[in-house]
Amino acid sequence: MPRVTYISDDGKETALDVPVGTSVMQAAILNSVDGIVAECGGSCMCATCHVFVREDQLPLCPEMEVGEDAMLDGTAVPRRPNSRLSCQLVMSPRMDGLVVTMPETQT
Ligand code: FES
Repeated sequence: MPRVTYISDDGKETALDVPVGTSVMQAAILNSVDGIVAECGGSCMCATCHVFVREDQLPLCPEMEVGEDAMLDGTAVPRRPNSRLSCQLVMSPRMDGLVVTMPETQT
């Protein structure tokens, strides 16, 4: 099962085995990882599941769609080139070892 490491803004690391087909956001919520709120439950409507993906791993992630790109303009902490919405990061085998960092706040 692919593994994801979540790093909170204060440096706390949590590693989870995330089933293929489950989003990085869903796994975080199910395992009570702090730093991801996900108010809309994964509908790409809230931008409170904002994460920063390790730069070299961006090509491994699903391509960003227009709706996600638009939502990222409304995140609490301004977007960076490696910003993604974790509800749109649905795990695939090639994403094994993914590292995401959560912003200081989501709201
Ligand atoms: S959970 Fe709302 S945009 Fe990701």
